[in-house]
Amino acid sequence: MGNSDKLKSDLLAMVEATTTLAAVEEVRVSALGKKGALTDAMKGLGKLAPDERKAAGQELNAVKDAVTQAIDVKKTSLSMAEMSARLMEEKIDVTLPTRPEEKGCIHPISQTIDEVVAIFGEMGFSVAEGPEIEDDCYNFTALNIHEDHPARQEHDTFYLPGQGEKGRKVLRTHTSPVQVHTMMSEKPPLRVIAPGRTYRCDYDATHSPMFHQVEGLVIDKSANMAHLKGVLTDFCRAYFGVDDLPLQFRPSYFPFTEPSAEVDIGCTREGGEFKIGHGDDWLEILGCGMVNEKVLENCGIDPSEYQGFAFGVGIERIAMLKYGIPDLRTFYESDLRWLRHYGFSALNVPSMTGGLSR
Ligand code: DAH
Repeated sequence: MGNSDKLKSDLLAMVEATTTLAAVEEVRVSALGKKGALTDAMKGLGKLAPDERKAAGQELNAVKDAVTQAIDVKKTSLSMAEMSARLMEEKIDVTLPTRPEEKGCIHPISQTIDEVVAIFGEMGFSVAEGPEIEDDCYNFTALNIHEDHPARQEHDTFYLPGQGEKGRKVLRTHTSPVQVHTMMSEKPPLRVIAPGRTYRCDYDATHSPMFHQVEGLVIDKSANMAHLKGVLTDFCRAYFGVDDLPLQFRPSYFPFTEPSAEVDIGCTREGGEFKIGHGDDWLEILGCGMVNEKVLENCGIDPSEYQGFAFGVGIERIAMLKYGIPDLRTFYESDLRWLRHYGFSALNVPSMTGGLSR
């Protein structure tokens, strides 16, 4: 038996004898690695006379192919065996009874979004979505918030590395850019709400770097401030479950609406107890206004033909108010005791006919 035949049968025997993937790898290194037996033999070829070298080289290459193939075959069969062993070990008995104490529940943020969608759905709004990573233009410029606008500082923006097609990349600081995407991609009349995550660099009992808003947008030929008041009054009364809840529209300023307003709802704060409804006090809950003509133009909508209104509500804020949750940070702590206390049954999906929260 020639040298290369001996090498081949030794190596193949070693591969055959392995019983684990790690052992196969060891054999591979000892044969084909930098200091492996086969590698060594190949290095020795240089010392042979040219006519011998060719034949010996071909033989060693054939050994290499045979060993490589044997290793591959062994690896495949061992990984299949390992996989079936794991499957046997990890199998679960799906016929076992469920554990009642492990019951899951709906997070108050999801519940609040579902309630908001149910109320606006009843009014004919559909749900729109947009990306959480925005280009500067959608988050700011198209909304009439220019480079040097003070509102840019107020937003405590998280800027991301890299440049989008329309400016620097940012984590959206509000859901208002979904207005821009909707107006740019759909033809009016439009009636949408856009719930979703938003981001600002801020953290205390009432601020979180990630929070949620819901945006509203109505564009048609006659939508006006009276419609805006009607829609938001109906929304607040349905959401808080107070039929005669008083609302106050206070003049305000937002670059993307003109005129703009902030909405306060009536409340009482007697003897340290806070209650939503009739009372001598007001609490601010959202911003709104008629869509600024400049924003319509930026989005390719002719302001001499179309007009509309928009609004933006903080989801955490209205959830805290309705469900008496005192600290915003607890929303994201994933504390099971908190979830069991503030969570909702997964089977009661909010609807205007079935009820919102039970
Ligand atoms: N984007 C505003 C914010 O995050 C909220 C807002 C105010 C949205 C007025 C609107 C609006 O659509 O009309 O503070």
